[in-house]
Amino acid sequence: MTETTIDTTQGSSSHQLLRRDVRFLGNILGEVLIHQGGQELLNLEEQIREMSKTLRASSDPALLQEFKNVIRSLSPEDRHNVVRAFAIYFQLVNIAEQNHRIRRKRDYDRSSGENIQPNSIENIVAELRNANVPVDQMQEILQTISLELVMTAHPTEATRRVVLEIHQRIAEDVMKLDNPSLTHREREQLREKLVSEVLTLWQTDELRDRKPTVLDEVRNGLYYFDETLFDVLPELYQELERCLRKYYPDTDWAVPSFLRFGSWIGGDRDGNPSVTAKITWETLTLHRQLALQKYEQQLMQLMNHLSFSTNIVNVTPELLESIETDKQHIHLKSEDVWRNDKEPYRIKLTYMVEKVANTQAHGKNANAKYHSPDELLADLWLIDRSLRNHFADYTADIYIRKLIRQVELFGFHLAGLDVRQHSKEHESAMNEILARMNIADNYAALSEGDKIALLSRLLNDPRPLMSPYMEYSESTMEVINVYKAIKAAQAEFGPKCITTYLISMTQGASDLLEVMVLGKEVGLYRREADGSVRCTLQPAPLFETIDDLHAAPEIMDTVFNIPAYRDSIPDFNNIQEIMLGYSDSNKDGGVLTANWELRVALKEITKAAKRHQVKLKFFHGRGGALGRGGMPLNRSILAQPPETIGGGIKITEQGEVLSSRYAIKGIAYRSLEQATSALIQSAYLAKNPQDTKDEAEFETIMRSISEESQKKYQDLIFRDSDFYHFFKEATPLPEVGELNIGSRPAKRKGSDRFEDLRAIPWVFAWTQSRFLLPAWYAAGSGLQTYVQGNPDRLNKLKQMYETWSFFSSTIDNLQMALGKADMLIAQEYAQMAKNTEAGQRIFEQIRSEYELTSQLILQITGQKEILDNQSVIQESIKLRNPYVDPLSYLQVQLLSELRSLEGTSGDGAELLREVLLTINGIAAGLRNTG
Ligand code: PGA
Repeated sequence: MTETTIDTTQGSSSHQLLRRDVRFLGNILGEVLIHQGGQELLNLEEQIREMSKTLRASSDPALLQEFKNVIRSLSPEDRHNVVRAFAIYFQLVNIAEQNHRIRRKRDYDRSSGENIQPNSIENIVAELRNANVPVDQMQEILQTISLELVMTAHPTEATRRVVLEIHQRIAEDVMKLDNPSLTHREREQLREKLVSEVLTLWQTDELRDRKPTVLDEVRNGLYYFDETLFDVLPELYQELERCLRKYYPDTDWAVPSFLRFGSWIGGDRDGNPSVTAKITWETLTLHRQLALQKYEQQLMQLMNHLSFSTNIVNVTPELLESIETDKQHIHLKSEDVWRNDKEPYRIKLTYMVEKVANTQAHGKNANAKYHSPDELLADLWLIDRSLRNHFADYTADIYIRKLIRQVELFGFHLAGLDVRQHSKEHESAMNEILARMNIADNYAALSEGDKIALLSRLLNDPRPLMSPYMEYSESTMEVINVYKAIKAAQAEFGPKCITTYLISMTQGASDLLEVMVLGKEVGLYRREADGSVRCTLQPAPLFETIDDLHAAPEIMDTVFNIPAYRDSIPDFNNIQEIMLGYSDSNKDGGVLTANWELRVALKEITKAAKRHQVKLKFFHGRGGALGRGGMPLNRSILAQPPETIGGGIKITEQGEVLSSRYAIKGIAYRSLEQATSALIQSAYLAKNPQDTKDEAEFETIMRSISEESQKKYQDLIFRDSDFYHFFKEATPLPEVGELNIGSRPAKRKGSDRFEDLRAIPWVFAWTQSRFLLPAWYAAGSGLQTYVQGNPDRLNKLKQMYETWSFFSSTIDNLQMALGKADMLIAQEYAQMAKNTEAGQRIFEQIRSEYELTSQLILQITGQKEILDNQSVIQESIKLRNPYVDPLSYLQVQLLSELRSLEGTSGDGAELLREVLLTINGIAAGLRNTG
């Protein structure tokens, strides 16, 4: 298995190194195959690969038939081995590519500034300096930028942790091979170790035997903090400060903490009944444990570095005084106090370690622990000042400033946890509570206006609503318990542990007010005697369907007009957070319409907020697969209209991208530096708007294209009565639900309605079957209704592509989707539809839309082939295809066999396992889960 290489390089010698690694790992896999299954296994796998390659080149129907026959006639054991061989091959190729990314960065960095890597921090700082951006504008930019990356468990990693760890070990060993000083024997030893790792991979089950629990998911997220983020984030800040000093040498730079991580895991309960108030509490406890454990480790390490002796240096009196105070309050056993009293830093650190260790303990002497991160910071600054007093500033810069940054970034809560719940849950709790109190018989049936009036009245009324003497239903109690837990958590874990409460499917102002009224019940919202409002939990709407995106500006306008609501915003620095859902808007209206409507909503909501002098922080719920708005982090930042990033940006980092972005320090660093550079660029553009004279015209055209596209999309998805059956039969949707990749059910409320199907399995199933329908369908029809064969109109679209970044990125994303989709493979899946006539009809409709979309894109871009402008990706897809194809044909075969057992007494467990293995293999091959 030696041929695929994916060229992501500029230089050919660098390219050869990637080829070398892929070949090397492919050979090792070949060796393991022979060792485990004999030469016959390798031969079989090679035969299938060769046929698949030839088929791609010739598309000869006779050969296709022969290929299918070979696939069909495989024994179950051979089939199993072949699936695993291809799947593991992709894992190895992905590792090699990842390593290569780090290698390229190192190549640039070796040139020490002569050769600056595009999209790096140095690149953007140098560019702005060259554009003569003055120091004060640069300072302002640093004050404006803010990015929060929020980890979700969506879907949690398809790859098991143990498998990820093997990947990591392989990556590290392959990287070592680049070291020119390795001896022959060391090289041999590395090779032997790699054979053993690949063999372990071969004998390790890549499928989970049970669904992860929510706390498993939480631990999975924490792994990235522990392994990479804790160190990588401070490095990033250091680099930004270094570059600022280099390009603006006359200024003393202090970069504020603009980039942080947050999390949903353990807080997001929308459609996941396993996320209870108790679990949220346990999550926060785990967060704090990790943060404190990290500080303890760092302080212990500092003991080795801060051996400065008062025989040689003068430390500050305030340091000595603080040690005296510690001594009075903290009673350490004599053997635990640093013995050498000429080494005050080490003495101070022993007390600091003790205080960190006591921080979670209740009932401990109040002076023997830290009550807040600020207290720990105060001690660190004290040390910093003292070190500088005797000119140990290098030590202060390297060690103390890093820890200070870490404490500033991670506090004692590690990462802010957001809570999310569906609006309907609040409504039904409200309904019950208000009926029990004789305030409204049927709250849910009230008009929106009446709801708003009632809820505003309740907010202005200081009296509580619920009675401790009454019993409420279990679901209402769970809703209210979450608020109680949040209130208690803010006291226990610090006010920043949870500050945002997201409301899925927000459709009216009342959805936000309900959350406030429930919050008021436990003291998260209070109107004080002087009339002012204190609020520590912000309700944030999540707009996710096309209709809701349309309604969003008006909803926000209404909310901002309600004094009871508006008065709460100053407590959040006058910023209102608003979340936009990329997946569900896409599932509802199709990709083109969703993209367009998201942009309109962003701009219109921004205008509404301006009228009320409220700043906005948009939270983009996107990432992972294309149909869910997935794209590299920096591109997703640059895709936002710059004027909408004023109050900061939040973006979800979906479960399945966590391992590819954050498992390895070098990759995590690169992703985050690209994000930082994009952020600085956007902030600069917001201050220096580009010429937009044609934009109004472009927007009018885009609106009409989007309307047509939405119609075309919804005609198929919502109005064709055969469609939902087709989808379930022509994709592995039901089997995707069996993957045990997340704690959350694939459907809301276990219902079979299309509306209740989560967007993730929707996209995942279409990706597996190579339709990738959510990522491109109906775009062609939209464009076509505008062009209508008219050359002037086509020229207009060309102009839009060349000059309007929104349009060009939309078209380029469509290209990516079309390039990855494959109608020949998709047809094989379509043939599984039980109603053959409807199946054929729907497939033809999809195929002709695919052709139309491709044609129009080629005309607009002036390219010969899809993705000609992104040759790296084009090449990668071409090289990967012959390896993915056998997995696809095998998946269809296995699905057909499995499904033919329905209604019989046959046991499909083994077949299902095989299907799941093909799903993992295809996901690795296409580098896409959800
Ligand atoms: P959601 O997420 O279904 O939880 O809203 C969608 C996604 O992550 O794509």
